[in-house]
Amino acid sequence: MAAGHQKGAVIVGTATASSADRRATVSLFSRLRTAEGQADPFPLYAELQARGGVSPAPWGGFLVTTFRTCDQVLRSGAWLEPDTKWREQQGERTRWSAPSSREISRTLPALNPPEHSRVRRSAGNFDRQTIDRIGRRVSGFVDRFLDTVHERLRAGEADFAALVCEELPVATVGDWLALPSADWPLLRELTHDQVFTQELLPSASQLTRSDIAMAELRTYFLDLVRERRARPGEDPVSRWIRTWDSMEPDQDKADEAVYFLALFVLLAALETTSTLLSTMTLHLVEQPDRWRLLAEQPDLVPAFVEEALRYDPPTHVISRIAASDCLLEGVEVRAGEMAHLMVGAAHRDPARFVLPDLFDPHRKPAHLAFSAGIHYCLGAPLARLEAQTLLRRTLTRLPRLTLVRRPARAPRVAFRRLLNLDVALA
Ligand code: HEM
Repeated sequence: MAAGHQKGAVIVGTATASSADRRATVSLFSRLRTAEGQADPFPLYAELQARGGVSPAPWGGFLVTTFRTCDQVLRSGAWLEPDTKWREQQGERTRWSAPSSREISRTLPALNPPEHSRVRRSAGNFDRQTIDRIGRRVSGFVDRFLDTVHERLRAGEADFAALVCEELPVATVGDWLALPSADWPLLRELTHDQVFTQELLPSASQLTRSDIAMAELRTYFLDLVRERRARPGEDPVSRWIRTWDSMEPDQDKADEAVYFLALFVLLAALETTSTLLSTMTLHLVEQPDRWRLLAEQPDLVPAFVEEALRYDPPTHVISRIAASDCLLEGVEVRAGEMAHLMVGAAHRDPARFVLPDLFDPHRKPAHLAFSAGIHYCLGAPLARLEAQTLLRRTLTRLPRLTLVRRPARAPRVAFRRLLNLDVALA
């Protein structure tokens, strides 16, 4: 899920882009990172799409905006993740040599086959039984957080993002991994800080924040693995230790593998799910018709969640590397070059979706919010469980809510984040 450019200033220089195109794309990405661009990046994506489904990125590599090509690249064995070897080849002066980038390159979504297949198998799946068990815990957490919202609403407005959307994912995953609840706020903050190393165009200071956060997370999770080895239980970390002990004779290597699994599950599960919960709730409260529709037809809840994932997915960019020279929509790509799959733009591709800018809870879209192919999101059932539970309980437990002000967003491109979601009784 990584993307990028050289540390410091944007490096301009691809063989195929005219200098006017390059300037236009640089300006477009600057606008994307403003408050206005974050509030509504879709007109900017449409500008990009108008230049062709595949266009050169000013910092190297390509930007892909058509749904069909994004989907094909994700499902193709000819496109790889930017793994440790690729990052090393980019050189010491690039963002790819940052310690946080090197660390992320050893986690599941940055591995390529055959290593990826081995590690993915060891992670296991969320089967029906596990989801049912976690589901009971999620319902309890949701009720508790909605009680707080209810109380705040009596006094005026409530920030739904802070009180619910930020809390539910860390409680769900923290509880599932059996992490002490006192640690949850710290883990959530470290997760917010580390995300920059996976952002599209991180600055040097953002990378430093990621490096610091990642070092803390490393200490935390290596200690956790050691504790669980000393006192094993029935939690996922203890299970991963048993699995890796049966696969890897060197205990240090087994512990390291379990550390990378636990680390990435936490990183993958928090911000993305928080963003889904807050954008979904924003769609619900910004138009009274939607609340009424869902209250009358609760069977539409799963489709509403899927449409929220299409309309404005938590992750707008997924990146891949060409394994060999190839053509992408007629554009020449050389082995080792990066394609930024602009999933947020692809979700508004008129060739794929009728009236793509319309939020339509009846649509039941097949989307790329959870990626596709061998890296398809492992936690998709958990994210859906949290979102559907929250939506159902919000509709039945709270009187109709309304949006007090437009939310602020973090100035990111790849990873969307609402900073607040202020609501009041309608
Ligand atoms: C709405 C919430 C979520 C979104 C939008 C999301 C999105 C994604 C995406 C786009 C990828 C693939 C990246 C790529 O192709 O390079 C991915 C992979 C992954 N996700 Fe999620 N995710 C979410 C929630 C979760 C949760 C709750 C968990 C864990 C409990 C999780 C665990 C993972 C893991 C382990 C991978 C790596 C899979 C692999 O590489 O084989 N995700 N996710």
